[in-house]
Amino acid sequence: MTNIPFIDLKAQYALIKDNVEAGIKRVLEHGQYIMGPEVAACEERLAQYAGSKHCLTVSSGTDALVAPLMALGIGPGDAVFLPTFTFTATAEIVVLVGAHPVYVDVHPRFFNIDVGHLAAQIAAVKKKGTHRPRAVISVDLFGLPADYAALNKLCDAEGLVLIDDAAQSYGGALNNKRVGTLAPITATSFFPAKPLGCYGDGGAIFLDDDALHAKLVSIRVHGQGRSKYEVERIGLNARFDTIQAAVILAKLDVFEHELERRQVVAQRYNEALGRAVETPEIPPGYRSSWAQYSILCDKRDAIAEALKKEGIPTAIYYPIPMHLQAAYRDYGEGEGSCPVSERLAKRILSLPMHPYLDDAAIARIAGVVRRAA
Ligand SMILES: Cc1ncc(COP(=O)(O)O)c(C=O)c1O
Repeated sequence: MTNIPFIDLKAQYALIKDNVEAGIKRVLEHGQYIMGPEVAACEERLAQYAGSKHCLTVSSGTDALVAPLMALGIGPGDAVFLPTFTFTATAEIVVLVGAHPVYVDVHPRFFNIDVGHLAAQIAAVKKKGTHRPRAVISVDLFGLPADYAALNKLCDAEGLVLIDDAAQSYGGALNNKRVGTLAPITATSFFPAKPLGCYGDGGAIFLDDDALHAKLVSIRVHGQGRSKYEVERIGLNARFDTIQAAVILAKLDVFEHELERRQVVAQRYNEALGRAVETPEIPPGYRSSWAQYSILCDKRDAIAEALKKEGIPTAIYYPIPMHLQAAYRDYGEGEGSCPVSERLAKRILSLPMHPYLDDAAIARIAGVVRRAA
């Protein structure tokens, strides 16, 4: 029995090797390792694909989230709302700028921010009066866009900035509008395991607002002004490496094909798993980029153990919601305050998911899951 990789970057590399190596070689030859021509070329293609006016590449998905908070002047005294069922970075950047994170529970089947609970949390913060509501960070968990019709409406009515944490969802869409245009500001990640990953850290911000884009350009390089040593604001060192831009350019050539394959893999999993476990649901009009394929089941740990014995890796995203994490729980209301997320953390399991997963592997994985469930 051969082991099945959780994400098969080697299979992808075998296909795109020539393009990747030629791209990297070009960078080595021209020598513009910092902000070389591939960076602008990459931004142009990423913006074109998403349908946004601007794309600004940065050094990670985390920087793609923190830079907009800095540009908007969000900090002490401000409340930023986010789903508690997310990766650390979503909460981390709020605390890093000195703002107050307010945790929101998620939808039990789609795993994204529960807009009803969000409205209740905004009202609660306004009533308490200790922090000023400023922004909402929605997270498109596992590649599925959040409910942007409801989120944009609520944020507009409340005067809040909506930031899409699309670290997992570049390539996803809602009613034929792609991720990058669903919220006024979108942040994605090019961490290698993401649907569009480079060979190191990287990320990008998508937006239409020219003035905000200009501020972000400055923040990306230490808050620089018109010249290198003129400093206008506090910034970061958050440039995307030219070599990584060359990798993204090569991967963009196969990206749409890979997304199509991910849809097929998810569909095959759904069919093969049947009703043995709760399989992921995609609401009508939505397209997931399938960063993860995650099932729900009561026998989660037994299923993971059975798969491990067969050489099949799994992952738990996420075992502890943010409002219960040692570093972040003081901002929240403790156990029982976000019950859906707390229950998901105990029942969720992600199976291998990548564009090169073939039918035989899917059947083998699903067989083990069905028997263990
Ligand atoms: C939801 C979410 N937000 C933010 C990030 C941070 O991205 P990066 O690892 O590129 O900094 C990640 C990636 O792991 C993520 O999954």
